[in-house]
Amino acid sequence: MASLVTTITETLRYRGKIGQWSWVFHRLSGVGIVLFLVLHVIDTSWAAFYPDQYVQAIREYQSPLFTIGEFALVAAVVYHAFNGLRIVYFDYNPQLWHLQQRAATIVFVLTGIVLLPVFVLMFGHVADFYGEDREIAGLDELVRTQSQFLLGFIVIVVAALILSFLYALITGEKPDDEVIKRPSAIDSWFWSYMRISGILIVPLVFGHLAMMHIIQGVFDITAADHTVVGTEFVNQTGTAVEFVGDRWNYLLAGVAIWRVYDGLLLALVVLHGFNGLRYIVNDYANNRMVNRALNWAILYGGAALIILGMAALLAGVEETAAGIVEESITVVESSTFWFGG
Ligand code: HEM
Ligand code: HEM
Repeated sequence: MASLVTTITETLRYRGKIGQWSWVFHRLSGVGIVLFLVLHVIDTSWAAFYPDQYVQAIREYQSPLFTIGEFALVAAVVYHAFNGLRIVYFDYNPQLWHLQQRAATIVFVLTGIVLLPVFVLMFGHVADFYGEDREIAGLDELVRTQSQFLLGFIVIVVAALILSFLYALITGEKPDDEVIKRPSAIDSWFWSYMRISGILIVPLVFGHLAMMHIIQGVFDITAADHTVVGTEFVNQTGTAVEFVGDRWNYLLAGVAIWRVYDGLLLALVVLHGFNGLRYIVNDYANNRMVNRALNWAILYGGAALIILGMAALLAGVEETAAGIVEESITVVESSTFWFGG
């Protein structure tokens, strides 16, 4: 904890070179994307297991607060990807290290250049959506749903701390023992994995974001009579559930390409992101009991997320789900009208 405080205060105090800010933004963008990813994989699994809840989740994605978050998310992914590629390139070309400063500046400039047209296109979707009169999820709804995720997160960390404390009791370890840091074979494997997976993630995540933000946009997920991006199906019910069902059921040469695509993205990104979290925890949590607890939470949390995401991909969306959800939306709308009237 003390080292986390030192990092924050020293980063603000230290009038360092641009490399310092590259490091800070790389770390912050990485953590931001992981946090979104946890919510996103859980939400997406609802399309398969709890279609009604998925409709609600997408409704919240289309609220003003999440729309601002969406712009921040895209900026984080673009910066993290470009800066990640810079790190990989220089790691394998040490003779060019004297150019690091210049490369870090180029990454910031390039991020700005790419984001400008992307934001203009995204803003077009936002303006179209809010230009029409519709019922938008309120802040109270967002707080109610998102606080459940926060509660879940707190429960996992507290449970891991209790288990780690019990482990320390059984093994006779002192609660304030420091972590013994020695690099293992798995660390060198992960060093390479972070670089190889980073390169593979670039086309996958950029393709995913292009489909979900530029070609169609978050708002078109619920647009009726639109051809669903990457398929030949038309979203007849105009529900988010049919959108996902159409994508996952679309076959190209007999292969459910979007399921394979999402499965690859899921496995690569969760392992990369959660291992990144492990680096950060190991930098700041020096107490052995706390360090072990957080490492357990990361290990089991990451494994659970991959299992949940894969289970949703394998289960798929029932063909009847979208129709049932559409009916329930109609019932809710007419009862709102009745109560309101
Ligand atoms: C607000 C931005 C985003 C939207 C609206 C969005 C939308 C979606 C949708 C509709 C699906 C369902 C399947 C499909 O249609 O392919 C999906 C799945 C998925 N997305 Fe995103 N996505 C966003 C950002 C991201 C980002 C930044 C990542 C990676 C860091 C990501 C990773 C995934 C993964 C791994 C799956 C598969 C989940 C599973 O197997 O259950 N998404 N996304
Ligand atoms: C888009 C392509 C991406 C590239 C090229 C990339 C590249 C990298 C590289 C090279 C590192 C440094 C690894 C090290 O220090 O050994 C890293 C760290 C990290 N990445 Fe990524 N990454 C990408 C996507 C992602 C995504 C989608 C997430 C979140 C799910 C993520 C989360 C993280 C985190 C949390 C760290 C640790 C940061 C730190 O130690 O300060 N990355 N990434």
